[in-house]
Amino acid sequence: MSEITKEAVVAALSKVDDPDLKKDLVTLNMVKDIKVDGTTIDVTIELTTPACPLKDQIQQDCINAIKEEIPAADKINVNMSSRVSSSAGSKLNAILPGVKNTIAVASGKGGVGKSTVAVNLAVSLAKDGAKVGLIDADIYGPSIPLMLGIPQKPKIYQSAESEKMMPLENYGIKLMSIGFLIDDSQAVIWRGPMASGAVKQFMSDVDWGELDYLIFDLPPGTGDIQLTLVQTIPLTGAVIVTTPQEVSLIDAKKGLKMFEKVNVPVFGIIENMSYFIAPDTGNRYDIFGSGGGERLAGELGTKFLGGIPIDPRIREGGDSGKPIVYGIPDSEHSEKIMGISRNLAAEISIKNMSNSSFGIEIDLG
Ligand SMILES: Nc1ncnc2c1ncn2[C@@H]1O[C@H](COP(=O)(O)OP(=O)(O)OP(=O)(O)O)[C@@H](O)[C@H]1O
Ligand SMILES: [Mg+2]
Repeated sequence: MSEITKEAVVAALSKVDDPDLKKDLVTLNMVKDIKVDGTTIDVTIELTTPACPLKDQIQQDCINAIKEEIPAADKINVNMSSRVSSSAGSKLNAILPGVKNTIAVASGKGGVGKSTVAVNLAVSLAKDGAKVGLIDADIYGPSIPLMLGIPQKPKIYQSAESEKMMPLENYGIKLMSIGFLIDDSQAVIWRGPMASGAVKQFMSDVDWGELDYLIFDLPPGTGDIQLTLVQTIPLTGAVIVTTPQEVSLIDAKKGLKMFEKVNVPVFGIIENMSYFIAPDTGNRYDIFGSGGGERLAGELGTKFLGGIPIDPRIREGGDSGKPIVYGIPDSEHSEKIMGISRNLAAEISIKNMSNSSFGIEIDLG
């Protein structure tokens, strides 16, 4: 039991762990502000991502710990803020200076819903308050502009210092697409160097500003073009999308091996088209089998970030340029996707923390 002092609040918060980062909030330097006014205590905790899946739990843990340490406090406000941690290695810093993390969304097999997942993850992270960009690097079928409801091409923006392209924006997401470089009807035969040249241009010639997460939708497959791309982009890590069926899982495994080969960490596996619930009967149908994504993650020693069922509303969201997490936010599917994006954000924070050193610096003055 302690008096109501800042020191006592620090002592209380040093008993609260971030369950993902597995250290206490004081050691993690997440306690940003403590105010004591009579019997009222105000605390600000700064998380490493606004999409923290354990935000509410950590907040409640703080309140409980303070109550226990300082029973005389009668009003405790724990304010949750965030500043996204950065993976910024020298390569990322040099090419994309304002960008904290870059994530490739990949799949071995085509048509598994990679672009749908990329768009919905981007919207989810933005809804949680992160600054998000998206690069559609799919040379075979750039589909993100349609899915994000941005049909027009970007203009060249003139400024005194630079002549950079401004990314287009919708739902708070900045977008560049290989689709902006070609006409819909124009057949383009890309080779690896051309594709990586275009993606390089998106990184150096586009004014991205400050971004917490920049997501790349890669072309499907694990051939030369994909390999060239993942070597061109300074990647924080990748996620692999698969359906539960065997042919897709085999290709997902190849995808994971490709990232291993170029030393890009894989944050986890997302299973799409996991099952279908018939709206009339409520019966569940495992159209592509069941549990494959989770099994594969276990086998490959990576995380299972979550599964997304088949639902016509997810397809309609893509076709109409209104991703389901934006268009039907209260649906069970949107909540599932939000959960997956938070799991991903947590994995990124964990990785960034394991690469950084941190110190204790709380101003008690
Ligand atoms: N969970 C889902 N429920 C219903 N339809 C879906 C779901 N996920 C994706 N789709 C639909 O399946 C089709 C393929 O999805 P998408 O274009 O996202 O796949 P992709 O892996 O990016 O394909 P590609 O390999 O051609 O780039 C799209 O019409 C999309 O709307
Ligand atoms: Mg696609």
